[in-house]
Amino acid sequence: MKVVDQKSMSFCSLMFMIWLTGYCSLSSPTSQLNKKIKSKPKSKDVHGTDISKQIESLFRKHTYELSIRPDRDSPTRVGLGIIIESITDISEKNMDLTFTLCLHETWMDKRLKFKARGNVSSIVLPSKLMNKIWVPDLYVVGSKNSFIHTTTVNNVVMRLFNDGTIFHTLKITSTVACQMSLYYFPLDIENCSLILQSLGYSNKEILLHWTNQSKLFMDVGLVNNMPKYQLIHHKFHELNASWTDTSKITETFKSRLQITFELRRYPLAVFFQSYFPALAMVLLAGLGMWIDPKSAPARVSLGVTSVLTISTIINGLKAILPKVSYLTAMDIYLWVCFIFVFSTVLEFCVLNYLMHKQEKFIGRRLSQRSTTSQILSRKTFCLCDGATGLDVKFRICYFTTFLVFNIIYWTYYTAVAQHDEDD
Ligand SMILES: *[C@@H]1O[C@H](CO)[C@@H](O)[C@H](O)[C@H]1NC(C)=O
Ligand SMILES: *[C@@H]1O[C@H](CO)[C@@H](O)[C@H](O)[C@H]1NC(C)=O
Ligand SMILES: *[C@@H]1O[C@H](CO)[C@@H](O)[C@H](O)[C@H]1NC(C)=O
Ligand SMILES: *[C@@H]1O[C@H](CO)[C@@H](O)[C@H](O)[C@H]1NC(C)=O
Repeated sequence: MKVVDQKSMSFCSLMFMIWLTGYCSLSSPTSQLNKKIKSKPKSKDVHGTDISKQIESLFRKHTYELSIRPDRDSPTRVGLGIIIESITDISEKNMDLTFTLCLHETWMDKRLKFKARGNVSSIVLPSKLMNKIWVPDLYVVGSKNSFIHTTTVNNVVMRLFNDGTIFHTLKITSTVACQMSLYYFPLDIENCSLILQSLGYSNKEILLHWTNQSKLFMDVGLVNNMPKYQLIHHKFHELNASWTDTSKITETFKSRLQITFELRRYPLAVFFQSYFPALAMVLLAGLGMWIDPKSAPARVSLGVTSVLTISTIINGLKAILPKVSYLTAMDIYLWVCFIFVFSTVLEFCVLNYLMHKQEKFIGRRLSQRSTTSQILSRKTFCLCDGATGLDVKFRICYFTTFLVFNIIYWTYYTAVAQHDEDD
């Protein structure tokens, strides 16, 4: 009984509450205040909807022509700023590198002037209006693959100021071709560049210029910690690139903005991967000449293993480099090492042959005349000395030639690398 009582009580109080709130909302003075605020004129609208109405009315009146650039008589000046977020995938094999960057374009379109309201002098245009506004048709020269990022929204922003200045910002990733010359690989310095140019307009219609050259990288750490290369320096260029129209055979010029990057490879990784193993093999094959020539299997197997190892190293490195038609500095070193190691095998063949011949010769001597043991022993000593003498001479020759080769090689290439850097 008690439970039922409580339930009915709470139900009644709930109904009363509902009635009370309904009555209050209908008759209270605060609700009338709310209504007044809602019906107020839009002069206090500071969120830009009024401004976008101004702009929309501009398009509704059809006074804005999308296909016509802002300044009809003079070239449109487009300012460009680039913030590079990362440089990745510098690939010798494909001869390209990938930039992820924010592109800031600035220009003035006087047709889009509007009246500022209060403190609001600029608005971010919604995407449906962005498509109705003229934008410069810039493209990345030499790009193999580019895209605009879309996380979390399409990464394109357009901010319009009341004087008609437009800030257009896009985030793109672009893989750009970079012609590398690998003559001095791995002690090479590569020049790669990022080039932006108008696709359709000549320099009489669009003039590009850099807005701010002081900042290029979003994060300095990114530049200092590039895995394969060190960025020596970068340089901004503004130039007029010649452009030959193949249909009319007339030469026009296009405004072009370029940043060149000078990159020096960190050679240590390549040293550990190729030079040191090759060097070790040459030394090992050289030391093998101290093995007794009579134990042929030991020397032959050591020589052949060294030759095979060097060819494996050469083949392994061919996989990371493009198939260039010239010899890189590394190719020269590895092939010379190959020749050295191969020469030890050849030397042993000759040595073995000579020893064989000697044995025969001694055998014949023994059978021909049974001379005194003294003469025989002297003769045998002499001949054996001749064979091992070859080994000793070859050993000295082998190591001194290799040393001389190394001195010449490293002096030449470090000098060349130094010279390149000074340029
Ligand atoms: C405009 O900006 C000034 C200073 O930034 C501020 O004091 C003022 O309240 C702002 N006015 C409006 C209408 O927002
Ligand atoms: C360029 O950008 C830097 C850093 O963002 C800034 O300190 C500098 O004032 C800017 N220079 C110009 C001319 O806008
Ligand atoms: C490129 O050409 C335009 C128009 O002819 C000229 O105003 C501008 O100075 C030139 N720029 C350079 C870097 O030569
Ligand atoms: C790279 O560019 C610099 C000047 O910008 C030039 O001196 C150097 O020779 C170039 N290096 C290569 C390998 O093209």
